[in-house]
Order: sequence, then C-alpha cells, then structure tokens
Amino acid sequence: MQVKSFHFAGKETKIPIGYDIMQDLGKMIAEHDPYRIVIVTDTNVKNLYGDSVKKKIESHGIECKLIDFHPGEFQKAREVKDRVLDEMLGFATADSGVVGLGGGIVLDVAGYAACEYFREKLKFFAVPTTLMAAHDAAIGAKNALNSRFAKHSYGVYYAPEFVFVDAKALQSLNQRETRNGLIESIKHAMAQDLGFLDYLLSLPDDLKLSKEQLLKVIERTIDLKLECMAGDEYEMFNPVLHLGHTLGHQIEFHSNFQLTHGEALSLGIRAEASLSNKLGMLSQDDVKRIYSVFERIGAPAKLPNPSSELFSSIIDSLKYDNKRTRRGTPFFLLKKLGAPPVLVNEDEIPREQILSCLNSIC
Ligand SMILES: NC(=O)c1ccc[n+]([C@@H]2O[C@H](COP(=O)([O-])OP(=O)(O)OC[C@H]3O[C@@H](n4cnc5c(N)ncnc54)[C@H](O)[C@@H]3O)[C@@H](O)[C@H]2O)c1
Ligand SMILES: [Zn+2]
Repeated sequence: MQVKSFHFAGKETKIPIGYDIMQDLGKMIAEHDPYRIVIVTDTNVKNLYGDSVKKKIESHGIECKLIDFHPGEFQKAREVKDRVLDEMLGFATADSGVVGLGGGIVLDVAGYAACEYFREKLKFFAVPTTLMAAHDAAIGAKNALNSRFAKHSYGVYYAPEFVFVDAKALQSLNQRETRNGLIESIKHAMAQDLGFLDYLLSLPDDLKLSKEQLLKVIERTIDLKLECMAGDEYEMFNPVLHLGHTLGHQIEFHSNFQLTHGEALSLGIRAEASLSNKLGMLSQDDVKRIYSVFERIGAPAKLPNPSSELFSSIIDSLKYDNKRTRRGTPFFLLKKLGAPPVLVNEDEIPREQILSCLNSIC
C-alpha cells in the first residue's frame, strides 16, 4: 500500500492507495473511533459493494446505517442532500462518522451532508469507487451541489479524514466510465507531463486496465493534482485544475447530463484549444494534437444536438459560473502543450470568438 497525503486548513488527509485492500477499511475507520457510521452511496454501488463494506465496518463493533439514492448527476442536488441529512437524524450522533462510498456524485453529496450535519462535527471518510473520484473528485476538500441553472452553484469545503483508494473496486467500471476518469488524467498530462500523456495513449483500446496500469494512472494523476494543490488548497487559483472546465461545465449541463463529466470536459478542452488558437496563443499543431488525443481515447468529437439556440444557452449560462467576477467568467487557455494554461477573462474575448470555437465541436 502506498500512502500519499494533502493538507487542508492545517489538517492532513492521508490517501492510502493499493489493490485489493478493502479488508483494511474497517480497521482504518475504527482507528478514528466513531460511535456509529452512516454509509452514503448510490444504488449501483450499494449493489456492488454496499453489504461487504457495511460488514467490514460492523466487524469492528461499529453500528452502520446505509443510505442510498439513484445514480446520476441530477442527484447532486440540495433536495437529495437534505433527504440524506433527514435520514441521518436520530441515528448519527455528534461523535459518529460518514462514509462516502461511490463516484464523484456520491462523494459530493456525502461530504456536503457530513459538513452540514450538527455543524461540522462528524468525521468524513471518502471511499471512491470510480476512476474519476479516485484520482480527482476525492482528492481535496471541495464538495459541490448543482442548482436548476448550473453545475456547482453551491459548495462547502470539508476535508475527509482519509481517502481510501482500492484500485480493485474500479475494475467493475465499464469502458465509458474508465474513459470518463482518464480524461481528467489527460487534462493534467497535457499541462504538466507530456511523457504521461504518451503513456495514457498507449493504454489498450478497450480500456480494460490491468492492476499495474490502473495503479500507475491513479498514482501519477494524484501526484499531478497534488502538485496543483500545493499552495492552493482551496483549488481556486491553479489554472491546470480548471483547464477545459469553463465551457466543459456548460456543455455537460446543457447536454442534460447525457454526457459524462469527462466527455463534456474533453469537448471543453477541444473548444478552448480552438479559442486559444483564434486568440493567437496556441499553435495549430498543438490544437491538432489535442483533437487527436481525444479521438484516440474514443471521446465524443461532437456536441450532441448542436444548434444556434444551444450555443446561445452555453454562452449565456457562463453568468452562472462560480468563478465569475466583474470581469466575466475566466477561461484557462493553453499557450502550448506541456505548460500550464493562462487566465483570460471573458471581457477580453469577443462573443463571436466563443461562438466560433463552439462550431469546432459540432
Ligand atoms: N469535487 C471535485 O473536485 C470534483 C472533481 C472531479 C469531478 N467532480 C464531480 O464528480 C462527478 C463525476 O464523478 P463520477 O464520474 O465518478 O460519477 P458518478 O458518481 O455518477 O459515477 C459514475 C457511474 O458509475 C457508477 N459506479 C460507481 N462506482 C462503480 C464501480 N466500482 N463499478 C461500476 N459502476 C460504478 C455509478 O453508479 C454511476 O452510474 C461530477 O459531478 C463532477 O463534477 C468533482
Ligand atoms: Zn473535472
């Protein structure tokens, strides 16, 4: 088992990473001495791992209650988080804990609920079961919920006691969900480590990753994310973290969540690469390389159902972005592959340029 860590508000969060290590989870939770544990998960993950994780914790004499909700991005909502909180009442005491067991959506809802319940008293334990969550969503203290208008309109910071990464649990992911997570690895690799980008492109076409390949992808991506978080534990200023996300989040929302977060992000990175080129920053060769990387990995090349109304909605919804300032919504644009992107405010970019870069993904 490898152990990495990050710091948030003076507290260290350990990240044990291994393969087939789930038997250690109960012991690690018991070391924090919670009276009771609420396991928050979605129905898919409950069916796969719910009972076995519950038994592992209960075997240490800790009473557990499992709360689940339907899978999918629409569940990342205040109503769902409120229902989880209501179901915790009467069971979870101030000296209890919450385990988030699942992908990025479960971890956002679970971390948010843990933070609000009895005003930040409960300990939170993150057990990611998707690649997206293991090397990205679970790493850091951010927890967000969506509004009717946009992604991540509401949020809290609440660092887990630990992030427990068992790569074996990720082997039940299908090809689309593995690709979903790999796209965040590609984001980091494009800005921080072109050698790692070559490695990601050498993975098998069917994306059925071996134990060694999964561990290498997880460990390297976490290292690259931790580099970005050093000195920016609130994940606000480091431009790499936001690469492709300005348009990506709007594309994801306006696809009605038919696109996964990673798929929308790949379209966001492509469109923002074209934008950067139009603004005279990124070379045409680098734009071509970026497009070919996502083709190679099998990410969708086009926006679903493109139309002028969709383009207008995407641009108009930039007003909901949680990084927006009086200068509009910031874009994080690559000047060259292998180097961090730079911040360009929306008020420096003509609307027609954004419209025309959306044309490049339809
Ligand atoms: N807070 C952050 O810093 C951060 C970072 C990255 C992503 N995110 C958020 O995370 C979300 C995406 O996370 P995700 O892609 O993990 O989505 P997800 O939680 O919806 O999981 C994807 C699907 O995989 C299923 N699943 C989970 N584990 C499985 C397993 N082991 N085997 C088979 N199926 C499994 C889930 O039930 C779901 O259907 C987005 O909302 C995104 O905005 C947040
Ligand atoms: Zn992301």
